[in-house]
Amino acid sequence: MSTSEPPFDMRDIVYDIGSYQNFLHTTISWDQLQTLISGLTLKSLLPAVAILYVCGVASVVFYRLYLHPISRFPGPRIAAATGWYQAYYDIVKQGKMTQRIAKLHEIYGPIVRISPNRLHFSDPEEYSKIYSVNTKFIKDPALYTSFNVNHSSFGFTDPQAARGRRAVLNPLFSRRAAIDLQWLVVEKFDKLSEKLVEYGGPSKTVDLLSAFRSVTLDIITAFSFATSFNSLDDKDFGSQILVAMEDASGTSRFAKHFPLLNTILVNSPPIFGSALSPAMGALFEVKRTLKAQIDKLIENPEELKGSPHPIIYSRLLDPNVRGADAAPPTRKSLQDEAQVMIFAGSDTVALTLVTGLFHVMDNPAVHQKLMAELTQAWPDLGTAPGYEDLEKLPYLVLHPSNTQYCLNVIHANETKFPKHQDFIPERWQQADSKHLENFLVAFSKGSRQCLGINLAYTELYIGFASIFRRFEFKLDNTREDLDWQDSFISRFTGKNLQGIVTLRTS
Ligand code: HEM
Repeated sequence: MSTSEPPFDMRDIVYDIGSYQNFLHTTISWDQLQTLISGLTLKSLLPAVAILYVCGVASVVFYRLYLHPISRFPGPRIAAATGWYQAYYDIVKQGKMTQRIAKLHEIYGPIVRISPNRLHFSDPEEYSKIYSVNTKFIKDPALYTSFNVNHSSFGFTDPQAARGRRAVLNPLFSRRAAIDLQWLVVEKFDKLSEKLVEYGGPSKTVDLLSAFRSVTLDIITAFSFATSFNSLDDKDFGSQILVAMEDASGTSRFAKHFPLLNTILVNSPPIFGSALSPAMGALFEVKRTLKAQIDKLIENPEELKGSPHPIIYSRLLDPNVRGADAAPPTRKSLQDEAQVMIFAGSDTVALTLVTGLFHVMDNPAVHQKLMAELTQAWPDLGTAPGYEDLEKLPYLVLHPSNTQYCLNVIHANETKFPKHQDFIPERWQQADSKHLENFLVAFSKGSRQCLGINLAYTELYIGFASIFRRFEFKLDNTREDLDWQDSFISRFTGKNLQGIVTLRTS
């Protein structure tokens, strides 16, 4: 054999696995090697790559179906074999995985394998074992890193790391702090009332979802940074920031399935993001504003003393809080935390207000009862009761957070929540309602329970009292408009809650 000839056709190693050993022990010269490499074409490699790929996939699927630690749990075989099952419901079916999971529980029982390495539990009794104060379970990294806020209270997947950050922030979100800052919440809902009058009219429909998003965004930004975004000032509640936030949270359905693509997009120059969604420009502007505030405070922490009330940086940048020897949070960590406040603290409350308003207006008997209670507690429209008075009103406080009932499979448990699709505030006035509270998980439970729960209730009680006492609503929606898809935070699939809003005179 001449030294310039390749010793054999490279494809032999694929077509004839038996010759594989021969190949390894064949001595070839440098010339032969060069000829061999130059003889390789994409076409000649394809069959080899394809076969290797198929073998690889087959062994992974075999492992997942028969050898994986959770292979004994029931569920669709396809879901056990591949993450594409979940991706299909998230992406193609547009955020309908939660509804699919509810169906799977009907078929397979209280524990279902919903993807190769995920189990889903529907039994409310199991929930508190997983979401406990001393839980060792970490948050799902695939999901939570997709938000790119890894160094924040919400983003730390490890409960231990989250505990440290939450300890720093807790005093800001205590019940006492929420009560002390209720003036801020009242101020913003007063402004919302003015704007509902200004942007509405006897024959002009108002977009109430955008209205509630505006007020909650203004509250959380004032509360966290002492710099309100003043989105209520945008005509007809048309703030571009809100559009951008909606676009951004819509991407989470994709992002969790394509982590690499997500990382590239998140770290690419803002111009790419803006090209994908014009509204994204507004979000980059927000990030720039937050970053500028952080840079200024790192440069000169003394400025914090000028803040009208404690803000997140008052705690995060205080060496006495973290201990003089501990390193301060990085810039990235401060930016992550700021971003979390905006996303976790606005839409959540707004969607609850929307859902609550719809259901109360949809149930005249409930509306009547609520109005009777409210007018008694707030007889003179010019003198609003404080939060501590409102939280004593038995009907107002019947779990507005449960108006998000449909979001969680736990709340769809017919034994604990009979007629769970119906809005029945009285379910919280029964003899065993205290026990039922154990299964109300709208704010999650345990050590990763919502950090902003006290602020949320302050906003919900003051908000519901203010809108129902001051306005009459003629809504232009049906129950179907409240159908939702899961984009981590839910998104309504119908038209926004809207209607004619009329100011009450007494
Ligand atoms: C009705 C309103 C609200 C609801 C239903 C709600 C619900 C929740 C839920 C279910 C979680 C757990 C999420 C998860 O781990 O995947 C959570 C976490 C969180 N919420 Fe809320 N939330 C509300 C309002 C707020 C407000 C006003 C804030 C204020 C900033 C806030 C801040 C947070 C934070 C920082 C976390 C992360 C906590 C952690 O992971 O340790 N939330 N919330």
